[in-house]
Amino acid sequence: MRKKITIVGAGQTGATLAHWLAQRSDVDIVLFDIVEGMPQGKALDLMEAMPIIGSDAKITGTNGWDETADSDIVVITSGLPRKPGMSRDDLLKINAGIVRDVTRNVVAKSPNSILMLLTNPLDAMCHIALQESGFPPERVFGQAGILDTARFSAFIAMELNASVSDVNAYVLGGHGDDMVPLVGSTNVGGIPVSKLIPAERLEAIVDRARKGGGEIVALLKTGSAFYAPSAALAQMIDSVLNDRKRILPCAVFTGQNAGNYGVSGLYLGLPARLGAAGVEEVVSIDLTANEQAALQKSAASVKELVEALKSFDPPMLS
Ligand code: NAI
Ligand code: 2OP
Repeated sequence: MRKKITIVGAGQTGATLAHWLAQRSDVDIVLFDIVEGMPQGKALDLMEAMPIIGSDAKITGTNGWDETADSDIVVITSGLPRKPGMSRDDLLKINAGIVRDVTRNVVAKSPNSILMLLTNPLDAMCHIALQESGFPPERVFGQAGILDTARFSAFIAMELNASVSDVNAYVLGGHGDDMVPLVGSTNVGGIPVSKLIPAERLEAIVDRARKGGGEIVALLKTGSAFYAPSAALAQMIDSVLNDRKRILPCAVFTGQNAGNYGVSGLYLGLPARLGAAGVEEVVSIDLTANEQAALQKSAASVKELVEALKSFDPPMLS
């Protein structure tokens, strides 16, 4: 039976995700947006590309929720970017409202779906979707870690003129400037990266990865990254649809005791086994004392946003 994926928000990341997915497999894709005609136009353009790339993916665009019914996976990318003069809290409130309303509509039409979040601030938005959906946490998770890891890996490969396939790395923590690249366990073809790149250069690469989103915004000027973020979502979807059980860094709910990370009750970027059921396990990796401390700091930043959501009048999170 063909799988159905709804992408809420047919903007830069949403439409590019549809592109990657259609290239990868013969799935049914629904692009949803509030802008009239735009998702329909992008879907038609993509459908017209299918004979060229030889894919039987079926892409439709809509402004109505009925067409999203019975989706297996719903990806939420809807939201605003931060604009000049807008505070972090303003953006938090606006996007939380969008994610809240979208989640309610999604759940009404696709009660058995898996929800994948992209909207920023990502970790906080996962909390909203979890609360509003009433789904178990294994069916609500977010994309950030694959992107952050890919940026770190790309910069290492560029530095060494190495194949990206030989770089093995993880970036954990929240999707913010205090994310945690696990430098100690990063290797290139099995050789520790610290033996290949001098400490000072490595520190600069870590810093560039942490600020990777901002670097793209500064270059684009009118938006944020979309190729790599949507490729990351496509990888998560592939692991779930095909029950691949890939271990991928995702924003997952730590519950009372997820892995050996010492964080609970919070969404945070951690290695997760993704299969047909969604997050099937939070995988424990031994961290150094420094990495553990950095992860706690990153978790504290996410917690701050979660507390802000609770403090709004009326509260966005209970
Ligand atoms: P975009 O502005 O190109 O697209 C967002 C789309 O959402 C727009 O088409 C807009 O019409 C739509 N939208 C707004 N309110 C809606 C609603 N209530 N229902 C349905 N659609 C609605 O933005 P882009 O570049 O696609 O980014 C989307 C979000 O993803 C942003 O919050 C961005 O910061 C975030 N992002 C997160 C990343 C991550 O790694 N977690 C990476 C890249 C982007
Ligand atoms: C990024 O890291 C904007 O979160 C987005 O590119």
